[in-house]
Amino acid sequence: MPDVLTPVRTKEDLLFEDSLRPRTFEEFVGQKNIKENLKIFIEAAKKRDEALDHVLLYGPPGLGKTSLAYLIAKEMGVGIKPTSGPVIERAGDLSAILSNLQTKETLFIDEIHRLLPSIEEIMYSAMEEFSLDIVIGQGPSARSHKLQLKKFTLIGATTRAGRITAPLRGRFGIIHRLDYYQEKDLKEIIKRSASILKVAVDDKGAAQIAHRSRGTPRVANRLLRRVRDYADVKADGKITLNEAKMALDMMEVDSLGLDEVDRKILLTIIENFNGGPVGINTIAAAIDEDKDTIESIYEPFLMRIGFLERTVRGRKVTPKAYQHLGFSSHPSPQKKLFEK
Ligand SMILES: Nc1ncnc2c1ncn2[C@@H]1O[C@H](COP(=O)(O)OP(=O)(O)OP(=O)(O)O)[C@@H](O)[C@H]1O
Ligand SMILES: [Mg+2]
Repeated sequence: MPDVLTPVRTKEDLLFEDSLRPRTFEEFVGQKNIKENLKIFIEAAKKRDEALDHVLLYGPPGLGKTSLAYLIAKEMGVGIKPTSGPVIERAGDLSAILSNLQTKETLFIDEIHRLLPSIEEIMYSAMEEFSLDIVIGQGPSARSHKLQLKKFTLIGATTRAGRITAPLRGRFGIIHRLDYYQEKDLKEIIKRSASILKVAVDDKGAAQIAHRSRGTPRVANRLLRRVRDYADVKADGKITLNEAKMALDMMEVDSLGLDEVDRKILLTIIENFNGGPVGINTIAAAIDEDKDTIESIYEPFLMRIGFLERTVRGRKVTPKAYQHLGFSSHPSPQKKLFEK
């Protein structure tokens, strides 16, 4: 199956993400708790005329971390300088970025877990004391010089919170985990996107797309675009329950939004390891997929829908997953009704 269900951004998403990105907290659907907290922190910082505390946003791909970062800067009424962990290769790169930041301005570092250790170390004093230690010269004549920075706000985003070192994490005053979205929220996102893209979608059509979007706004927006294509060709462009179902079935989008890799993970545990528990490294090797990708993208979703459990001895497939995949019993998968 194509990439239609991947929560990771595709080239085609890139063309649409900017226009579909929420611009205000009102437009940013769901994540109520995070929004309420951020609104208070932002208001307080504005009242004191200070920079907002450093913010760390983490959670699976496509849930709105980048959108929130831009929103925060906008609500603070300040500029945002975007960069990402792997892009900053030398200390000099970081020094240049940091020393150019204005008071209260936002530095957004995406994939912050991928900062090089030497760069991360520079961040410590920059975040805490708003200063940089610059070494001038080399060898015995080298001298260290302290450079004062303006009080800026760092917003870090990551899909791998576990990869953030304790000293870095400890320097963020505001830490939020974005969670998968409820169907009603996804439905609202789909309706908003539909109106921006000028697509006619009714309530049930939107609900059906939401249901199969694996809790992820990016996937919801992508499925909406694919269903629109189908509706344009087959049904005068109108998306109702029927068009949504036909199009999604045709694309082999599972009724719960499971993709090929999700299925492979579950089936491998069931068929090769009798349902588990089995270690993550073993699973990764068995399906020839990157362990990090499994842990950051697939596993959180499978756990969220109650198909996978994490135990001290490894991952275990639940009876619910056996049922969905068409196995009659758990955990002795003799009768397989479903081949995929
Ligand atoms: N709460 C939301 N309300 C409306 N649309 C949203 C929301 N969250 C995300 N989106 C939509 O999903 C798209 C992807 O979101 P975003 O790029 O912010 O995710 P991300 O968490 O930064 O993903 P990644 O981990 O891949 O960087 C956005 O362009 C936006 O259209
Ligand atoms: Mg992002």
